[in-house]
Amino acid sequence: MTLDDMDIQQRLVLAFTQSKQPISGEELSHQLGLSRTAVWKHIKQLEALGFTFEASTRVGYVLRDWPDELMPALVKPHLAPDRAGALGHLILWAAERESTNVTAIQLASEGQPHGTVVTCGVQTGGKGRRDRAWTSPKGGMWFSILLRNPCALSQAADLTLLASLAVQRALAKHGVNTRIKWPNDILLNGRKLCGILAQMRTAGETIDYAVLGIGINANFVEQDLPADLQGKATTILSATGKPVYRPRLLADILAEIAALYRLFDEGGGFADIRDEWLAACATIGSRVEVQVGREIVAGTAIDVDDHGNLLMLLDDGTRHRVHSGEILFQARDVIP
Ligand code: BTN
Repeated sequence: MTLDDMDIQQRLVLAFTQSKQPISGEELSHQLGLSRTAVWKHIKQLEALGFTFEASTRVGYVLRDWPDELMPALVKPHLAPDRAGALGHLILWAAERESTNVTAIQLASEGQPHGTVVTCGVQTGGKGRRDRAWTSPKGGMWFSILLRNPCALSQAADLTLLASLAVQRALAKHGVNTRIKWPNDILLNGRKLCGILAQMRTAGETIDYAVLGIGINANFVEQDLPADLQGKATTILSATGKPVYRPRLLADILAEIAALYRLFDEGGGFADIRDEWLAACATIGSRVEVQVGREIVAGTAIDVDDHGNLLMLLDDGTRHRVHSGEILFQARDVIP
């Protein structure tokens, strides 16, 4: 399927989601500038993707059912009207990608605008932090957001700390109550539900662009995760017994991220939301082992400061501050 085909299909779906009435083949062919045979061909392709249309010779087509994929035409009706800093006004979906971060980085180098969101149904080479693979089956939410000049390089850690709160807030709106594990994992019932991978290109003291990749184990079951994650990771469907409507959840996450990132324009950052972030954090008071370079530092997590550093009380009674930058953005996470 070509990019143009994809675009036509998304416009077709948007025409249906925006209209309460049946739409005739003639009207669709007029709106899209296509022959009626071409419209019919696109309707058939959408049916193969899980859309159900009802066709009646007199009134036209009605959209009866659709898949809950992160397609632009399904997400857009839930986005707030365009405003400065808004995210997701260009959403690029594909049934399968190697990794949405890989695509977003490529698009960034080709000049795609700030706020572009890359989504897909399945990732075949999903990337986790520290060079780990990220299992990305059908039913999950796999997406990356392109952010141009989001903040100063000194605030790089803030990007993911703020994003973790945005995801936590949006999930709560959907009845999924999660906690944050420092620095930016999202836990449901103590198990990992969501991970965030930020990759950046820097220029001096500024961030040229950042790609914020977010993966949420949504509408599939824990058994679809690899054996080594059983008992450590969970999914919304397994933990709550109910699926979420992914297009709406994505729109809500994008709105929360955009709202929190406005803090950067006002000269603020993590410090402004630290109290709320700490209230949502599951790490403080727990015993933790943190990888700092090649070393593992063990102790009790006692606080997170205004810059997102984790403050630990070590077993010998000394205090140790772990700079989030060391953990979030290792050399291999930065695109040269
Ligand atoms: C982690 O290790 O916790 C980070 C996982 C990040 C996974 C997401 S899924 C969407 C985006 N594309 C990727 O290849 N990775 C991120």
